[in-house]
Amino acid sequence: MAEQDRDDFFAETKQFEELMMMYECAIKEVQTKLEILDREFSVRYRRNPISSIESRIKSPMSIYRKLHRDGLTVSVKNISRNLNDVAGIRIICNFIDDIYDIVRMVAKQDDLRVIETKDYIRTPKDNGYRSYHMIVEVPVFFSRSKQIMKVEIQIRTIAMNFWASLEHQIRYKKNIENMEGIEEISRELYEAAEIIAQTDRKMQNIKNKIDQFQDIAQDDRKEKAEWMR
Ligand code: GTP
Ligand code: MG
Repeated sequence: MAEQDRDDFFAETKQFEELMMMYECAIKEVQTKLEILDREFSVRYRRNPISSIESRIKSPMSIYRKLHRDGLTVSVKNISRNLNDVAGIRIICNFIDDIYDIVRMVAKQDDLRVIETKDYIRTPKDNGYRSYHMIVEVPVFFSRSKQIMKVEIQIRTIAMNFWASLEHQIRYKKNIENMEGIEEISRELYEAAEIIAQTDRKMQNIKNKIDQFQDIAQDDRKEKAEWMR
């Protein structure tokens, strides 16, 4: 019996290790696609829509907590069946419009299947959280099989990321919900999110104006060149 237990345990941990390796590979596939888009943009339009990319594999503790929360037994099968965010990629963009450009370009790739989107920019969460979330399926080719893996992509601006990082840190402080004045803090956090969103829109407007000016300037140059000919 003890031997059976041991064999079962080893078999399960080996499967777990393999599954995590597959998620890591799925991240590489998607991350490469994003880097390609950014690289192309830098040559074609002389600018980068992506400021930075972060990625992570969900920790065993977080995996355990989420399955447990959803009333599921912790098993390798339940991880791949029920969790969409074991593999996570976060894309930090410079401007709001960059986010929607990336979303469109990701959706157009015919080897990726978008299975869920949440636009927390158009419809922010009650606490003020903003980001665009996508769950995509990507095929990954291994030595003996092709696996379709799920990856969660979060796309946000530098400003949205600034807010979300701090809010996350505060939220995970122990017993924070029992702290005196927590409602006040939540309200202040919400206000900060609104100010940040306003700044994002302002920066986008400034960029649009400069773009427009440059386009006009370019048209002028073109006209001049034509006239000179
Ligand atoms: P879960 O089962 O909890 O993942 O629910 P869901 O899949 O409906 O989650 P959702 O797509 O809304 O959010 C998933 C991820 O987005 C989280 O794991 C966080 O990384 C991020 N996120 C969502 N809401 C917030 C928030 O209010 N603050 C911060 N800082 N991050 C958030
Ligand atoms: Mg989720």
